[in-house]
Amino acid sequence: MSNTTVVDNAKDHVWHHLTQHKAFEENDPLVMTEAKGMIITDSKGDEYLDATSGGVWTVNLGYGRDDMVKTVSDQLSKIPYFAGAFGNEPASHYAQEITSLMPGMNRVYYSNSGSEANEKGYKMVRQLAHFDNDGKKHKIIFRDRDYHGTTIGAMSSSAQIQRKKQYGPFAPGFVEMPNCCCYRCPFGKKYGECNIECATVLEDIILKEDPDTVGSVVLEPITAGGGVIPPVPEYFPIIQSICKKYDVLLHIDEVVCGLGRTGKWFGYQHFDVQPDIVTTAKGLAAGYAAISVTITSEEIFQRFKQDHTNPDSYFRDISTFGGCTAGPAAALEVVNIIKKENLLENVTNMGNYLKDKLNALQDKYEIIGDVRGKGLFCGVELVKDRQTKEPVHESVAMAIAGHCLKNKVMIGRTNRSFEFNNNVLLFSPSFICSKNEIDLIVNAVDNAISANT
Ligand SMILES: Cc1ncc(COP(=O)(O)O)c(C=O)c1O
Repeated sequence: MSNTTVVDNAKDHVWHHLTQHKAFEENDPLVMTEAKGMIITDSKGDEYLDATSGGVWTVNLGYGRDDMVKTVSDQLSKIPYFAGAFGNEPASHYAQEITSLMPGMNRVYYSNSGSEANEKGYKMVRQLAHFDNDGKKHKIIFRDRDYHGTTIGAMSSSAQIQRKKQYGPFAPGFVEMPNCCCYRCPFGKKYGECNIECATVLEDIILKEDPDTVGSVVLEPITAGGGVIPPVPEYFPIIQSICKKYDVLLHIDEVVCGLGRTGKWFGYQHFDVQPDIVTTAKGLAAGYAAISVTITSEEIFQRFKQDHTNPDSYFRDISTFGGCTAGPAAALEVVNIIKKENLLENVTNMGNYLKDKLNALQDKYEIIGDVRGKGLFCGVELVKDRQTKEPVHESVAMAIAGHCLKNKVMIGRTNRSFEFNNNVLLFSPSFICSKNEIDLIVNAVDNAISANT
C-alpha cells in the first residue's frame, strides 16, 4: 500500500489516542511502519531515535528482536488462547518466574492492560471487605499526582485533573491524598527539615475517613506520567507502618516501573517495603504481546478459598484476553533476556549516565528547575524562574519535544494532566541503550532548549 494511502487512512479513519485531530488538517500524522533496536521508521521513510520506549514505557528491549518474535510465534503455533479459568503452559511458568523475583508475593491474576490490572486489585479489596464486614472497609486511597488508568474505576483513583475533566461522575469510595514531590512540597517543607508529612498525612486521612472504612492505599512506586516523582527513602516504610496499624492493604502500581525500568525488577524494591498487591503491565512483554498482571500475597489469595461451599467465596472475575498465551510467553522471554544480557545493570549504569548529562544541562540552562528519576526513567521539570519555581507554559515543553522530533529524536513530556504543571520532559530509552544513544538524546534536548528559550 502506498504511503499516501496509509497516511490518508490514518487521517480519515483512525481516532488517535490523546489527539486533537484538527492538527491533521495541516500536518500528516506520523505512521510508524518498522523499527530495529532504538530506531523507528515512519511511512515516509524518516528515521527517529526513540527515547520513549514506544511512547509510553513499553518497548523496553528495543524493536525487531528475533528472539522475542520467535518466542511469540512458537507459542501461537502451539496454542494461542484458552479462557483463563483453565491453565496454559506459559501462564504457569511465568507466574512462577515473576513471583520468584518478588519475595512475599505468590499469586498472579492475568488480564490485559494496566487499567484492568488495577481494577482487579480494587475488586479484590472490595470483595475482602464484603467477606469481613458487609463491604464497609472498601475505600481506596490514592495520591494526587498519580495515574492508575483510563477506565472509570481506574480514573476514579487517579488525580490528574485535566485527564478526568468531563468524564465524571466517578465511582464512589476513592479518597485523595497529597503527593510526595519534594521539589513542590505540598506542605511547604524542605527535605531534611520536615517530618515526611507527605507520608504521615496518610494516618490523618485514614482517621478522618474512619479506619473501618479504608481497605487499601494504591501508590505508584515512582509517579510516572504525573511528572516522574521518586519518594524519599523514608516514605514507603512510614506508609507501610500506617497501613499495618489500621489493617489497610498496600497496593503498588508498577505498571511503568515493573519490570526493570528503574534498575531493579520492581520500583518498590528500591525502598524498604512489602506490598500486599502489585499490578504491572506495559513493558512486561516489551510490546511484543499484550499482558497485565495483578499479583498478591498468598495470604490474600487464601482468603478467597476459605469457604468452598459458599458460591460467593471466590474471586468472580474474568478477563477474556487474560487467556492469550502470547503475553506470558513473551513476558517470560523478557525476564530471560534481562538476565542473560545483564540489562538491570545496564539500566542502572546508563540511567546514571543519563542523569549526569541532564544535571549538566541543568547547570547550563536556568529553565531546568529539577532533574529527577531512577534508572532509565528520568524527568526534567521546566520553570520560568528557579526562585519562584513558576512552571513554564505547556507550550514550552511541547516546543522543546517538537524541536527534538524535527531533529529525529523522540522524547516524552507530561501530557495535559494538570492545569499548571504540564512542564516535565520525560526520558525512558530502552534497556539496551548505550552511551552513544544517550549522547544523541541529550544533544537534541540541548539544541531544542537553546532554540526555544
Ligand atoms: C502507573 C500507571 N498505571 C496504570 C496505567 C494504565 O495502563 P493501561 O494504559 O495499560 O491501561 C498507566 C498508563 O500510563 C500508568 O502509567
